[in-house]
Amino acid sequence: MSSPFVAILMGSESDLTVMQSAADVLKRLQIRYEIKITSAHRTPSVTQNYISDAEARGCQIFISGAGLAAHLAGATAAHTTMPVIGVPIDSGPLSGLDALLSTVQMPAGIPVATVAIGKTGAKNAAYLAAQILSLADPELAARVKAERSANAEKVQAQDKALQDSLK
Ligand code: RP5
Repeated sequence: MSSPFVAILMGSESDLTVMQSAADVLKRLQIRYEIKITSAHRTPSVTQNYISDAEARGCQIFISGAGLAAHLAGATAAHTTMPVIGVPIDSGPLSGLDALLSTVQMPAGIPVATVAIGKTGAKNAAYLAAQILSLADPELAARVKAERSANAEKVQAQDKALQDSLK
């Protein structure tokens, strides 16, 4: 088994603007990742083969995003026992509600940790992956904590600017 990494999967190139947000967070936290377009419906055997191969090569977490019927995260979970995080994508006329229900409603024994619809969900998928990997990587845990602190400082600075503007 080679060094650990996260695999980001998406059902279509049209999902890339959303799923890039997950890649950006992983990159910032210095987590190795691969990113791939593969569809549960349009390329089912490519999807299955990639998941088996990625697991054999050291993939520890899959982040799978899809819109509409959104079976990619569930199909990923069917082919691995690594943790799977599902990102419902707002690509159809139902604004992602269809994908949310598809992604979250998995049968018992085949979990998909489902995050929010769209870019916020993609970012949180990466943060959740980082927190899971942090359990065995104290240096990564420190980077995750540092980012939390930086975000807290940003909010406090925003409030200070607001309060100052009211004086
Ligand atoms: C899903 O269908 C994809 O994940 C995408 O969100 C949606 C639309 O795909 P395209 O028709 O844009 O390729 O499988």
